Amino acid sequence: MGKFYIDGGKRLEGSLRVQGGKNAVLPILAATVLNGDISYIKDCPKILDVSTMINILKSIGCSVKWEGKTLIIDSSTVSSYEVPENLVREMRSSIIFLGSVLGKYKKVIISYPGGCPLGPRPIDLHLKALKQLGVKIKEEHGFIICEASKLTGAKIHLDFPSVGATENIMLAAVLAEGKTVIYNAAKEPEIKDLQDFLNGMGAKVSGASTDIITIEGVKSLHKVEHKVIPDRIVAGTYLIAAAITKGEVKLTNVEPNHIQAIISKLKEVGCKIHEEKNSVYLKAPKNLKSVDIVRTQPYPGFPTDMQAQMMSLLTMTKGTSIITETVFESRYKHVEELMRMGADITLEGRTAIIKGGLDLTGTTVYAKDLRGGAALIIAGLVAKGTTIVEGAKHIERGYERIDKDLNLLGASIRKEN
Ligand code: EPZ
Repeated sequence: MGKFYIDGGKRLEGSLRVQGGKNAVLPILAATVLNGDISYIKDCPKILDVSTMINILKSIGCSVKWEGKTLIIDSSTVSSYEVPENLVREMRSSIIFLGSVLGKYKKVIISYPGGCPLGPRPIDLHLKALKQLGVKIKEEHGFIICEASKLTGAKIHLDFPSVGATENIMLAAVLAEGKTVIYNAAKEPEIKDLQDFLNGMGAKVSGASTDIITIEGVKSLHKVEHKVIPDRIVAGTYLIAAAITKGEVKLTNVEPNHIQAIISKLKEVGCKIHEEKNSVYLKAPKNLKSVDIVRTQPYPGFPTDMQAQMMSLLTMTKGTSIITETVFESRYKHVEELMRMGADITLEGRTAIIKGGLDLTGTTVYAKDLRGGAALIIAGLVAKGTTIVEGAKHIERGYERIDKDLNLLGASIRKEN
């Protein structure tokens, strides 16, 4: 699985370019099935989740190749609507193939998804919405079998602004007959990036970034070229890494508008932040201040994908802070690992109470999911001695080169397979 060794006590400073967005590119990769043609995806991050998506695309008949940071997919040779079970189990977000394979072939067979252990991650909202588009759904032996004689546009209201459900509906609706409107749609920037990609191949989608998205079905789609938006969670992770080491960094390839909730909390901690068009500069204070409450919410609220990293930072602030995780049922697997490093954290249901100001001590800790793993690396940056983070693969699902990146800023991290 691989492990990271982090020697604590190094102050981060310098400039770094942020990778393309994982949660933007994954639905875009699934969408390449729709045009039965070539898709050029620029600034595609080379992360494990992308490798898994490439394997799925190849398994259904696409040809895929890298040219530098551009991924080129040809979906004119797709020959199957069965998404391989072993790959779906590897990564929950592969459920996004439900919408694109269905949208193109009106049939798909896929197994229930695996992925991060963030509590039960049902897909009831996805399936309920697809039924409204005319899809017949059977569930047999852990597989979902979807079929539609035709896909017809519908008015769909989501009980929760689910990112994946919003994306699956968009993908299933672009070639449907008539108009689909999604109410209470997710507003994450990644949804807007998917809209731009789909429109780039000739779809007619509008409203992304608001809670009402309209898709006018079209007859066919064509080749497309698209640059993926920056990864706002990687940007947030690196800003917190700089803050916890009382450092000073400039990140480029950042959309400041996508990380306002993170910037706001970092200012509460006492950081000075300067934004430019595509970059952000942070200078940490001598003493990090605690934050009354951090409540995770759907965008544009504080992102649940930054909750673990924020918790690591708050263990080093003077005073008591509270975090409430409102999006996922159980996203606190990093708490017991931080406590092994000496943090004082009390869990009460979805709320964590962090008593900051104690020193952290390096020891062996275990990454159990992607962002929890990143939080442990962040804690290791300031822990006394060396921290060993087992489970590197979880972290490499979403971070292209977190060790090399942080070492460029002055950290001392090495990877052992
Ligand atoms: C996306 O997951 C992201 N993944 C997650 O990032 C992110 O945490 C999440 O959105 C929320 O922002 C990708 O984009 C690949 P949801 P997704 O559907 O689509 C419940 C990371 O670290 N729900 O918005 O799975 C669900 O159980 C990952 O990069 C239902 O109940 O998230 C969860 O509690 C982790 N029924 C909540 O909604 C459904 O049918 C949010 O889920 C669907 C979701």
